[in-house]
Amino acid sequence: MNLPSEAYLWFKTLHIIGVVVWFAGLFYLVRLFIYHLEANEYEPELKDAFFKQYTLMEKRLANIITTPGMILTISMAIGLLVSQPEWLTQLWMQIKLFFVSLLLIYHFFCYRLMNQLQNESFKWTGRQLRILNEMPTILLVIIVMLVIFKNSFPTSAATWFIFALILLMAASIQFYARYRRLKLESENE
Ligand code: HEM
Repeated sequence: MNLPSEAYLWFKTLHIIGVVVWFAGLFYLVRLFIYHLEANEYEPELKDAFFKQYTLMEKRLANIITTPGMILTISMAIGLLVSQPEWLTQLWMQIKLFFVSLLLIYHFFCYRLMNQLQNESFKWTGRQLRILNEMPTILLVIIVMLVIFKNSFPTSAATWFIFALILLMAASIQFYARYRRLKLESENE
């Protein structure tokens, strides 16, 4: 479609703002689920109060930040594709769309978990949630690399080294959190 090039830049600006808002929500939502789950260990009165508070925070975060961020990202992406439909014929874009579909599945899966937490029919452990919380980080790295490098996605040794560093960083954060939890538990015994 023949839109002015400024329109394309506006779509891209709002697309990137949408991505930032969407991910801010996705990153914090599962963290809230972990706190919500940990409230099970409190005595009944405290547990009720924390459950109510976390339920409210989750709903607000999901409905006021995360989903509007997702809608802004996707609607502006449609604007970008309508302005330049030839992107759709490129392999990097097709691969990007595959990873974006995974991200959307993750987004709606978080809603499912949120409902289960609110109905107290939640079966996941805190450890599983912590691992799940790494998913959006991995998808973010892959999608941003695809959009920046496009069809010349790097596969050199240096790239794998950077990937390994990112994984190592994520693993160290997990290990440190586990170490702190275990230390706290042993102090409370
Ligand atoms: C339906 C889903 C999506 C479509 C169709 C789409 C499409 C596009 C298009 C056509 C561009 C412009 C590319 C250019 O001008 O070089 C773009 C830019 C961008 N997209 Fe997406 N996108 C989608 C979702 C996402 C998601 C989920 C993320 C983040 C995880 C993302 C991150 C970015 C970034 C950072 C840019 C700016 C890249 C640059 O200016 O070089 N996109 N997107």
